Amino acid sequence: MNRVYIKTYGCQMNERDSDEVAARLRERGYSIVDSEHEADIVLINTCTVRDLPEQKAFGKAGRLQKFKRKNPDFILGIIGCMAQTRKESLLDRLPDLDLIIGTQKFHRVADHLDHLIATRRGQGPKPATLVDVEEEAGSQETISSQPPVGMAGKKVSAFVSIMQGCNMNCHFCHVPQARGKERSRSIPSIIEEVQQLVASGVKEVTLLGQIVTSYGRREIDFVTQKSPFVQLLEQLEALDGLERIRFTSPHPRGFKDDLIACYGRLKKLCEHVHLPAQSFSNAVLRAMNRPYTVERYCDLVDKLRAIQPEISFSTDIIVGYPGETEEDFALTSHYFDQIGFDMAFIFKYSERPNTFAATLKDSVPEAEKQRRNQLLLDILAKHSLKHHQSLIGRTQEVLVEGPAKRGDNMLVGRTRTYRKVIFEGQPRLIGQLVPVYIDTATTTSLGGSLVVREA
Ligand code: 5AD
Repeated sequence: MNRVYIKTYGCQMNERDSDEVAARLRERGYSIVDSEHEADIVLINTCTVRDLPEQKAFGKAGRLQKFKRKNPDFILGIIGCMAQTRKESLLDRLPDLDLIIGTQKFHRVADHLDHLIATRRGQGPKPATLVDVEEEAGSQETISSQPPVGMAGKKVSAFVSIMQGCNMNCHFCHVPQARGKERSRSIPSIIEEVQQLVASGVKEVTLLGQIVTSYGRREIDFVTQKSPFVQLLEQLEALDGLERIRFTSPHPRGFKDDLIACYGRLKKLCEHVHLPAQSFSNAVLRAMNRPYTVERYCDLVDKLRAIQPEISFSTDIIVGYPGETEEDFALTSHYFDQIGFDMAFIFKYSERPNTFAATLKDSVPEAEKQRRNQLLLDILAKHSLKHHQSLIGRTQEVLVEGPAKRGDNMLVGRTRTYRKVIFEGQPRLIGQLVPVYIDTATTTSLGGSLVVREA
C-alpha cells in the first residue's frame, strides 16, 4: 500500500517540487515507482501557467479514476500549482480525488498520505477529500531538493529553489495565484544545501525562482551596492567543488549593472542567460504590463555581449496576445531575428482564469497564432544551426551528464552556453568537466570527440 507514482506536467520548478515530495516520501518508507501500473498511490503535480498541461492532467486524472473503481484502496491526488489555483473546484470534474495539496504544502504530503491510509484501515466510510491549500508562512524554507543520504546517486546537475512566488502582475499570467507572494530563502540555507549537493557529487546548480532578480529584495540588504542575488552568486562562486552556476528566470527590469558585471568576474557563472522577453512590441509589452521597453531589453543584451562575447541567449515569447496586430508581430519577429537567440520557448497565448488578460477579447485567431508561432520557430532553427556551426573546429568544456540515449559508449553533456554535446567516452567520465573537440552540428545538438590531454 505504499508504492507512489508521481507524474509531473510542467517546468523545472514543478520537477524540483516533485523530487522534493519523492525524497520526503522515501524517508517515510514509501517507495517511488516509475509507472501508474505499479502504484497504489498516484500524485499528479501540474503546472497551471498554460492551458495545455492542465488539460493533460485532467485527462490523466480522469483515466486514473477508473483505477479506483477496480481497487477502492487506490489513492489519487493532485498537488502543486493546479491544486493551488483550482482548489475544491477540481472535484467538479474529478469527484473521486482523495487529495488536493497546494504549492505551500509539499512538505505535508507524507503526513496527509499517512493519515489517509490510517483512516482507511479503520474501514470507516470513505473520508472526504483532503484539501490543503492554505498559505503557510515560512514555507519557502521547507523547500530543499536535498535527497536523503544514500539517494543522491550520480546526479551531476541540480535545481535549487531560492524563492517562491511572484509580485509582478503580468496580465497574462496565472503564476502569482499558484505560487503566492514573493518569499526568499536565506543565503546561509541555500549555501548549506548547495554544499551538501556538492558533497554528493553535484558540479552544477541552477537557481530557480519565478523572478530571481527579485531574490531577497525584502529580506536582505544591499551590500556595497550589490543586490541580494549578486551576494548569493558571489558566495556560491567561493564554494570549492562547485563548477558551474546557472539561474532561471531573471526579469529584464531587475537585471541591473551589478548583475551584468558578474559575467566579467565570476568564473563559475555560465555564459547563458534565459531572459524572457514575451514580445518585442512596446505596445504589447505595455498591454501585458511588462515594465520595460524593447530598447531596454536590447541594451541589456548589448551590455552582456560587451562584457562576455561568448554569451548565449534564450527567451520566452507569447504570440497572439489579445490585440497583437500584424505590425506588433512584425516587430517581434524582427528583433527576435536580430538578437539571434540560441534557444527559445514560443507560446501561443492561452487565456488563464482570473487574469486581467482574460477580461480582454482573445482576438488573434488560432490559425494566425499558429502561423506566428511557426515563423519564430523557423527563425530560431536558423540561429541555432548557425551558432552550432560556428563552434565546429573549436574545443568546448563539457560537463558530462550521462550516457546518450542512442549509440554504444556515447555520452551526453552540456557546454557552458547550455548546448548539448554528444561524443564517445567511458562512463567513468560522467560528472567530470572534459574538453571536447566539436566536429558536427545540427539545430539541436553538437557532436565531437574527447580531447586527450598530454600526460
Ligand atoms: N499564454 C501563453 N503563454 C503564457 N506564459 C505564461 N502565461 C501564458 C499564457 N497565458 C508563458 C510566458 C512565460 C512562460 C513560463 O509561459 O512566456 O514566460
